[in-house]
Formats: sequence, C-alpha cells, structure tokens
Amino acid sequence: MSDTDRNAAAALDTRPLMEIRGLNLWYDDKHALIDVNFDLNTPEILAFIGPSGCGKTTALKVLNRMHDDTRGVRIEGSVRMEGRDIHDRDVDPPMHRKRFGWVAQKPNPFASSIYENVAYGARIHGLERNRAEMDAHVEACLRRAMLWDEVKDDLHRKTGHDLSGGQQQRLCVARALGTEPDVLLMDEPTGSIDPIATAKLEELMIDVGRTHAVVVVTHSMMEARRIATRVAYFHLGRLLEVGWTADVFERAQTPEAASFIAGKTG
Ligand SMILES: Nc1ncnc2c1ncn2[C@@H]1O[C@H](COP(=O)(O)OP(=O)(O)OP(=O)(O)O)[C@@H](O)[C@H]1O
Ligand SMILES: [Mg+2]
Repeated sequence: MSDTDRNAAAALDTRPLMEIRGLNLWYDDKHALIDVNFDLNTPEILAFIGPSGCGKTTALKVLNRMHDDTRGVRIEGSVRMEGRDIHDRDVDPPMHRKRFGWVAQKPNPFASSIYENVAYGARIHGLERNRAEMDAHVEACLRRAMLWDEVKDDLHRKTGHDLSGGQQQRLCVARALGTEPDVLLMDEPTGSIDPIATAKLEELMIDVGRTHAVVVVTHSMMEARRIATRVAYFHLGRLLEVGWTADVFERAQTPEAASFIAGKTG
C-alpha cells in the first residue's frame, strides 16, 4: 500500500458515519430545526440535550427517515451516511431504516414470547437462519442487552409483558440489536425506569457504544455526563453547540448551554 493509499484509508477510517449539514425541518409552518450541523461517528455515544420542545426528537427521527410518512413535514439540507445523501432518490427507505434500531422512552415489548421479541426483527429483515443459528442469535442479543441470565429459563414461557420495566427496556434493546443495526437511536430510554434499572441500562448503552454509533436523547445531565462521548445542545430548534462531553459541561461556549447545564446540575 502506498502512502497515498494509506492516507486515503486513514481518512476513510476517521470519516464520520453520518454528516448533517444545513438541516432545516418544518412541521407545516413550524420551523422546528434551523440550520442544524453535526457529525455522527462510529463508535460513539452522542447525547442530545436541551429544553423541552427544542427539536431533539425531531432531529433523531431525521436520521432514520422516520418523518417520511408524516404529513406536512418538509426537510431541507444534506444528511449523508457514508457519503451518500439519505434522501437521494435511489436510497430505498426500508433498506435505510434497517440500519437503525429505535428504543423509545416507554418500554414497548411485544406481547409475544421473549424469544420472539428478539427473533422477529431478524426474521422480517430476511436475516434467515436455521433454528440453531436463530437460537444463538437470540442468545447473543440478550447477552449483549445484559438480560440473558435473568430470562434464559423463560424464553418461550414468558412474554415481553411479564418482565419488570427495566427488564422490558433491556428487552427492547435486545430486539433493536436483533436486526443487526449500525446505529442505535434512543429517545429518553431511561425516562420511565427506576434508578437501579437506569444504572443497568446505562452500563448496557456504554457497552453498545463501544461498537456502534448510539444517539441518545436525555433530560438527565448526570446521565449525559456518565455515558456520552459527545454532547449536542439544542435550543429552540438550533443546535447551539456540540463537543466532547467534558468540554461542553465544563466550558460551554454559549450562555444558553451554560445556563441550562448549570440549572440542571446545580
Ligand atoms: N408532529 C408534529 N407536528 C407539529 N409540530 C410538531 C410535531 N412534532 C413536534 N412538533 C413541534 O416541534 C418542536 C420540536 O419538538 P420535539 O418533539 O423535537 O422536541 P424535543 O426536544 O424532543 O422535546 P421534549 O424534550 O419535550 O421531548 C416542538 O415545538 C413541537 O411542538
Ligand atoms: Mg422529545
């Protein structure tokens, strides 16, 4: 390999997984995202923070094209994944979405068995497997979600609804990992579970963040500090700053971010 090739390879390695530039989004007349710019690297945990209604969920949903079916939504700007604009005509939305897992604030497991909760995604995405391979896949996802030891004897006997809230949320992570996504999108995943369950979920997020790109919306500044590689501060539809977690928390560049962080942590 020549030096030029090596440099090109190194440049590729460090290239962000996603590059968001000049992103604007309207819900009818409501200008919800205003000239938003950020990168998403892999692996990392990028936390979206900021006051209620400032556009965090809206920005998260842009990444996997979840707004496609919402009437009145208009998007401008460029959102690239591995160099290609995700809104290009030749990008197939289901193929694009397949690269993302989604975990909502309220755990929403299926009423089917624990096993089926995890196997389902793999099956519908055509990750065909024979029984033994599927068993191994389900086990690997449940282990990764730090749930295996608690459910291994009940895989077919219990449903997703028979678990505690914290277990349900870890099952939802296992289910999201079941489709082998590149990116995990999490919208306030610890917002409705107790502190002990939260600690477990944070440990799990840190582990997944070692191999995947994870974007997590959180209202907890403590949580952002504990788990995030980088933090993005949203304010009234604008992304006012994005940087290393310690930098943003200790040396915020904007008075809005400084005051929000001080208010939430002081
Ligand atoms: N489907 C929709 N139609 C119209 N307006 C919407 C829609 N979804 C969100 N909005 C508006 O867009 C703005 C951003 O909302 P968004 O849900 O992204 O905020 P957020 O930062 O996630 O807030 P929170 O912390 O409360 O979850 C808000 O003013 C909201 O009312
Ligand atoms: Mg939200």
